[in-house]
Formats: sequence, structure tokens, C-alpha cells
Amino acid sequence: MSMQRTILVVDDNEINRLNLKLLLKSDYHILEAGEPDAAEDMLAKHRVDLVVLDLALPPEPDNPEIGMAYLARLKTESPDTPVVVVTGHDQHALAVRAQSSGALGFFGKPFDPDEVKDTIDHAMEIRNQAIREQELQRALDSRMGADILGESEVMQNLRALIAQVAPTPSTVLIRGETGVGKELVARCLHAQSPRAEQPFIAINCAAMNVEHLESELFGHEKGAFAGAGKRKLGWFERANGGTLFLDEVAGMPLSVQAKLLRVLEHGEFSRLGGESLIRSDVRLVCSSKMDLEACVQNGEFRDDLYYRIHVVEIEVPSLSEHMEDLPLLAEKILLQKSALCGKQIDGFSDKVLAQMQHYRWPGNVRELENVIERAVVLCDKKTIEALPVLDGVHSGMGGDDLLEAWLQQLPESGIKAEKEVASFEHRLLLTALERHGYIKTRAGRWLGFGDRAKDKMRYLCDKYEVEFQEE
Ligand SMILES: Nc1ncnc2c1ncn2[C@@H]1O[C@H](COP(=O)(O)OP(=O)(O)OP(=O)(O)O)[C@@H](O)[C@H]1O
Ligand SMILES: [Mg+2]
Repeated sequence: MSMQRTILVVDDNEINRLNLKLLLKSDYHILEAGEPDAAEDMLAKHRVDLVVLDLALPPEPDNPEIGMAYLARLKTESPDTPVVVVTGHDQHALAVRAQSSGALGFFGKPFDPDEVKDTIDHAMEIRNQAIREQELQRALDSRMGADILGESEVMQNLRALIAQVAPTPSTVLIRGETGVGKELVARCLHAQSPRAEQPFIAINCAAMNVEHLESELFGHEKGAFAGAGKRKLGWFERANGGTLFLDEVAGMPLSVQAKLLRVLEHGEFSRLGGESLIRSDVRLVCSSKMDLEACVQNGEFRDDLYYRIHVVEIEVPSLSEHMEDLPLLAEKILLQKSALCGKQIDGFSDKVLAQMQHYRWPGNVRELENVIERAVVLCDKKTIEALPVLDGVHSGMGGDDLLEAWLQQLPESGIKAEKEVASFEHRLLLTALERHGYIKTRAGRWLGFGDRAKDKMRYLCDKYEVEFQEE
């Protein structure tokens, strides 16, 4: 499909504008502006593919710094819009400076028709190339998103559900513990939808304050609030045609929830400080690791919004629910991480595999990735034979196993430094107490102290100045 490209000519001289228009109008749609403010207006209202900027601008046409300053502003406000500058003749140094400030080309006055056309066609070609690269990257990103690993029944069901839901326009709520792959699922929904070629945009709703989140979502006009120096498009607008992923939606402040609800109801919104209504066609996917129903109960989440986003639900199982996939996942992650570190590591020792299978993985696949990455960094053999210590509080292991796991990560030879041993002892003591309600004797039995539990525990608690209960 060929679409006519639009060029905005910014020049205070009407004759120059007319000349350029005559030269270019057979190939391009031409818009005109006599000075920067008018140009800003045009850029706000129209899709512009390229700007031709005369550096001799009012109020001081003899001072090219005015034009240079506007060029710098253009490059920060619309960094993706290519700019070609017009200079007086003999202003080669100026043209070079403009190029190092981001202009894609230049031509002089008076106009040489061939030079003008060549320069503009060349700049357009550079821009098209950049767009093609972005699209390629996007396609690669969405392909990468297609890999949800796991042959267990729960993972097969998950993939089947995604395949069923992805082609529909329905809003999806993805739930699951931390690190289970909620964002991965959101990317797959996008990649398998008719919107795959359009943007996928993820926003973490819990990580921003009200004003920031609102302006990220809906954009703002220049001067909408202190610090809003320029107009900015929000993610709702940028995701047009694509998918908007609201991560951690439970963390969204109530005032933003109200605004989001209005957008979902009316399909329209305005930028902060703006009046005109904007329509945007986005597919909404939300995620939450919090209990959203509880948030509704205690007034932290609007119930009307809850019903709007809770249309189709996808629950991503925690890793402990499909431990049969762990060897496969661990192997793929190992391949990936060792390639990243430039190492050739083929697998895990049986002992390490067993260790991984006994662990509860509270941080799910992300934790698995992190543990393997650390092991790869520390490993200098062909096989991973030791894992960095797994967090004792969450593992199903007892005291001895924990100690063993910890000792495993220390260098084979060499002295196990007293300080490190003490720090482990301290952690082990806290873990034991925490697990047994700070009841000394129970914790002591779990640690394997048998009959001498009481004395040993008193000794350790004194040593580390830990509070405990007698019984
Ligand atoms: N089934 C899976 N197959 C392959 N990789 C997975 C799988 N599940 C998760 N991952 C990987 O684990 C990491 C964490 O996944 P992701 O960021 O999607 O989790 P999340 O649920 O969004 O976590 P959080 O709640 O912390 O935001 C990612 O690198 C992801 O690619
Ligand atoms: Mg996430």
C-alpha cells in the first residue's frame, strides 16, 4: 500500500514556501508554517513525515541560532520526525553543525530543484529504513514472546487458553504469583492476536505516583503541570491499534482508576491539561499478583473497574504446581545464560537437580533464572555442581540440608572463613525460630540438637542477641 507522505515546510518567507511546494507537491503532501509556534500547531494536529526547516527564522532571520535552537527543540519533542535544514549559500559550517544536531540533510538557497529532491528523498529513505528496523525488532520481540515452556498438563492448558483468547478483542486479567510469567503471557496474547504488528506497551502501575502515571497513560499538553515543558503523547495513544499491558493493576491509585474507568466506558480521553477528545483503539491486558477481590473488599480497588477488566481470566500456575517442568526449564535457562556469559556448560549434576527439585521456588521462574545465572557466573566446569544457597526460609529443606547447600557454594579448597560460617549460623538460627513461632525448644529440635536443644539454643541466641520464648 503506498501512502502519500506529508512534509511540513517551516520558513517565514512565503515565496520560498511556494517554491518548495511547487517542487515537491507531485510527490508529497505539503503543509506550511511561517514560524515555530505555527509549526508546533501543525505537528500537534497532523501526522508529519518530514520537516523542512529554514534556519533563518523570525524574529532574527540573520541569526541562525534561532533556527538551530528550534531544531534542537524539534529533536527532543519529536525525535522520530526527520528534519532537513535550509541554509543560505556559503553556510556550509552551519549545515554541518545542524547535521550533528540531528538534521538528516541540508540544501541551500536559492533552490536547486535536483538538490532539494535528492536531499528529501534521501532523508525519507533513512527514515523508512529506521521504521523497517523497528518493525523487524517488534516482530522479533513478539516471536520471542511465543515461547512459554513446559510440557506439564497445566502448562499445556495455559497455552491452549492463550490460543483461544488471543484472537478476540476481550480484556484479559492475568493472575499469578510473582515471577510466574504473567508478562510473558501478555506478550503471547499480543503476538498471537491480529494486532501483533502493532505496538505492545507495558506499564507498571504500582511503580509511579498519581501524576506521573496519569500523564504516562493519557499524555499531557505543554504546561499542564509544573515541569510539563512540552506536549507528550500517552501510552493509550501510542499503543493505538496494539495492546496495552497494565502490570500490577492493583497498585493503581484510586483517582487514576476513576479516569481509566471513564476511558473504558466512553472509549475517549483527553490529555492532561488538554480539551480535545482522543480516541484510541487498544486491547487491554491487566495483571495482578495481589488478591484483587480483597482489594475491592477493602476499598483499594474500584468494584466497577474490577468488573470491566475481569472479563477473561488467565491464571498462571506457580512453578511448584508444575515441578515436572523444572528440568526442561532449567536446561533452557542454562543454555541461555551460559551463552550470555560466553561459557560452555552442558548440564547440572544429579545432586544439583535434586536440590532444585526440593526447593519451593517462591520467586518462581524468575528466581530459577536468577539462581542459574549466579551458578553459571561462579561455575568453571562443564557441569553445574553447586548452586548458590537457596533462601532457607522458603525451602522445604531441614537444617542439615540447608547447611549442606550452603557449604556447596563455597570454594572446594580453602578455609571456610569464620565470618561466613557465623553469618550462616545466624541466618539458620533465625530461620529455625521464624518457622517455629520463636519457640526455642521446637526450633532446636528442628535444627537437630536433640536433648541438648535447650542449652544449645540459649547459647546461640545469646551469641547473636536474638529474642526468643522459653517454651
Ligand atoms: N513457562 C515459561 N517458559 C519460559 N520462560 C518463562 C516461563 N515463565 C516465566 N518465564 C520467564 O521468567 C521470567 C519472569 O517472567 P515474567 O516477568 O513474565 O513474570 P511475572 O509474572 O510478570 O513476574 P512479576 O509478578 O514479578 O511481574 C521471564 O524472564 C520469563 O521469560
Ligand atoms: Mg511482571
